[in-house]
Amino acid sequence: MASSLLNAGGGPGSVACAMPLPTPAEARLLLEHYVQDTYQRHHALMVATAMEGYARHFQEDAALWHVTGLLHDLDFEQHPDTHPAEELRWFREWGYPEEFIHAVEAHAHGYHGFATLPATRLAAALLACDEICGIFYAYRKLNPVRYGEMKAGSIKKKVAEPAFAAKVDRRTIHLGCQHLGMTLDEHVAHLIKSLAPLE
Ligand SMILES: [Fe+2]
Ligand SMILES: [Fe+2]
Repeated sequence: MASSLLNAGGGPGSVACAMPLPTPAEARLLLEHYVQDTYQRHHALMVATAMEGYARHFQEDAALWHVTGLLHDLDFEQHPDTHPAEELRWFREWGYPEEFIHAVEAHAHGYHGFATLPATRLAAALLACDEICGIFYAYRKLNPVRYGEMKAGSIKKKVAEPAFAAKVDRRTIHLGCQHLGMTLDEHVAHLIKSLAPLE
């Protein structure tokens, strides 16, 4: 497997070997190296797929948006109590683009001392997509249909019901929508379409 990729930030001198953002395929290898938990891997893929849908909608760089979604929780399994502080250090060491790093930092708004608000569309989309993917996932456990077959009204009802998937932070979903310039209705409708290809 891509050991050179996985070792890119591992040793002294790695700062000098700055690398651009990995391709989606390389990012998938990184994810599988750092994240073993099945749900966390699925969450990363969900957010990546949602982000790619928004990249197409806004005619942005689909690979950048996909990879941002795929890697946004890379350190969560190893460092849940400080997430995403550690991965931000890795990404800087690996020379990843500032736009990507900003989006990852802003997705932690309100957690572990992070207060950075999304200043780009990429960051706003990540904030808007991250937690709501947890609602889609929890809803699917109750109603095992594909994401693309879900009804917008049912998802919105679950967002408004604090006891449902209670750990999902509704505040950041609304904050993300606000910065993305989308209503929750529009956001949910987009996600149903974007997540449709996922198994
Ligand atoms: Fe996160
Ligand atoms: Fe996440």
